[in-house]
Amino acid sequence: MNKATRKAVIAGNWKMNNTPAEATALINELKPLVKDADCDVVLCVPYIDLFAAMEAAKGSNIKIGAENCHWAEKGAFTGEVSAKMLAAAGVEYVIIGHSERRQYFGETDVTVHDRVRAALNENLKVILCVGETETENEQHITAEVLRKQTKIALQGVSEEELKNIIIAYEPVWAIGTGKVATADDACKYNGIIRDCIAELYTKEAAEGFTIQYGGSMNEKNAAELLAKVNVDGGLIGGASLVASKFAAIVEAASK
Ligand code: 13P
Repeated sequence: MNKATRKAVIAGNWKMNNTPAEATALINELKPLVKDADCDVVLCVPYIDLFAAMEAAKGSNIKIGAENCHWAEKGAFTGEVSAKMLAAAGVEYVIIGHSERRQYFGETDVTVHDRVRAALNENLKVILCVGETETENEQHITAEVLRKQTKIALQGVSEEELKNIIIAYEPVWAIGTGKVATADDACKYNGIIRDCIAELYTKEAAEGFTIQYGGSMNEKNAAELLAKVNVDGGLIGGASLVASKFAAIVEAASK
């Protein structure tokens, strides 16, 4: 399997944006624009928007995900939502390990691993985020950081379970900054993640594995990034909040 046979996944990460009513309106605007997409289209939305989003997306090709989940099934974890609750609610995808969780909410490689485990146990599809900080980038340790984050997150995950995971390479310095990795760097670092998957599993598993790029991907730069051999889609923040921009990225991935 190679890029030609790997299905691209374009996922929006709304972060802390949109009320339920705004979610409904945005998805209704988006539906006709992406209905002919030749890639998977996912929107990861705040917990409070999940039901409105699933209702609005019903019957369309848009799949709905959450932006995080807890590792325990239930318990005394005020403010948290479990993978089991998401699955029971009918949610299909979940983002795990986003750098904003790591940066602002004390997420570690180990808690990312625990959350991945919980999501897989509930048959959720995981978008696992990895990426280096600006300092790490300047120290030229990006490859080591990506390999470490990937290896710890996937510890104990079987090759069969790996089919429910995709990885998003998101350099932290590129998120919400307007700075984008060059298409060549996105391809290179996605390739390093793919090599790591080959080491952990098999060459075949790595060849079939979807690896997105995220970090200021927009309607203008998407085509160049997505044309790269190791870039199988995008995880989109800001541009996913505007239907026409997100649809343009979906279109770029469908070519
Ligand atoms: P931006 O597209 O706003 O840079 O955000 C990227 C991101 O964090 C997606 O998860």
